[in-house]
Amino acid sequence: MPSSNQVGIITGGASGIGRAIGKELARRGVYVMLADKNAEEGENAVQEIQAQGGNARFIKVDVSDAKQMHTAVHAVYEEFGRLDYMFNNAGISMYGEVYDMTLEHWERIMNVNVWGVIHGIQAAYPLMKQQGFGHIANTASATGLGPSPTAAAYATTKHAIVGLTTSLHYEAEAFGIKVSALCPAFVDTSIFERGEAISMDKALINEQVKKQKPMSPEKFAVFALKGLERNQPIVCPMPLRRTMDIFFTLFPSVHRKLMRLVCRVARKARVEA
Ligand code: NAI
Repeated sequence: MPSSNQVGIITGGASGIGRAIGKELARRGVYVMLADKNAEEGENAVQEIQAQGGNARFIKVDVSDAKQMHTAVHAVYEEFGRLDYMFNNAGISMYGEVYDMTLEHWERIMNVNVWGVIHGIQAAYPLMKQQGFGHIANTASATGLGPSPTAAAYATTKHAIVGLTTSLHYEAEAFGIKVSALCPAFVDTSIFERGEAISMDKALINEQVKKQKPMSPEKFAVFALKGLERNQPIVCPMPLRRTMDIFFTLFPSVHRKLMRLVCRVARKARVEA
C-alpha cells in the first residue's frame, strides 16, 4: 500500500479492531483519524501510534449522529484535500433471545451498527466520487454471513452491512471507489465485555467466546488490509468458509442440524429475568 499523503478515517478507532487497523495503516504511512465516542481511549491510541512514529489524531464522534459524522468527515477532507480510506467500523454487540428484547434494544443496536455505517457512507461516498478514488471498508462480521441464534439483533445489523457493502461494491466501481465488508469471526477485543446481554449470563457467553480461540486484532488488521489491497467485496478470515458454504448448500439439512446445536449450546447462557 503506498504511503505519504494518504489519509484515512476509522470509526471505533479507539479500541480493538479499529485501533489495530489504525496502527497498521499508520505504520504504512497513512495519516489516521481515529473517530470514536470514547475520548480517553482514543487519545491513548493516538499516543501509541505517535510513539511508533506514525501520524494520528483523535476525533470525538458518535456515529449514530448523522450531523456529527458529516462534520467530521468533511473537516478531514477539507484539511487534507482528499480521503483515501473510510473505515465504518464502530459497533456494539448484543446477546439475547428475540422474545427478551424491547424496541429500545433494537433501536440501540441499529443506530450504531447500521445507521452508523450509513452515516459514514453518506458523508464519505460523495467526496470520494468527486475525487475519483477511495476505499470504503465497513466492518460487518462472520455473523453477517449466516444465522446466529441468541444474537439475532446483532446478526440483523451485520447482514444489513454485508448486503449494503456488497451492493455498493459494484455501484461504486464505476467511480473508481473500492468497497469491502470486513467479516471477522472472533477477535480478542473488549466488545463482548462491553456489550449487552439481555437475560443472558455474560460470563458464560465470554467463556463460550474464549473457546473459539479469538484471533488478535493486530493479526486481523493485517489480514483485513491484505483483503483491501485485493479489493475483495468480503474479507473473512475463516479459512474453510467457502468450502463450508458449498458443503452446506449441497447438504442444507446438515447445516440446519448444526444451527440447532449452536442454538441449544448458546441458550445455556440464558438466565430467567
Ligand atoms: P471494541 O469494543 O473493542 O471497539 C469498538 C469501538 O467502537 C469502541 O472504541 C467504542 O467506543 C466505539 N463505538 C461504539 N459505539 C460508538 C458510537 N456510537 N460512536 C462512535 N464510536 C462508537 O470492539 P471491536 O471488536 O473492535 O469491534 C469493532 C467492529 O468489529 C464492530 O463493528 C464489531 O461488531 C465488529 N466485529 C467484532 C468481532 C470480534 O470478535 N471482536 C467479530 C466480528 C465483528
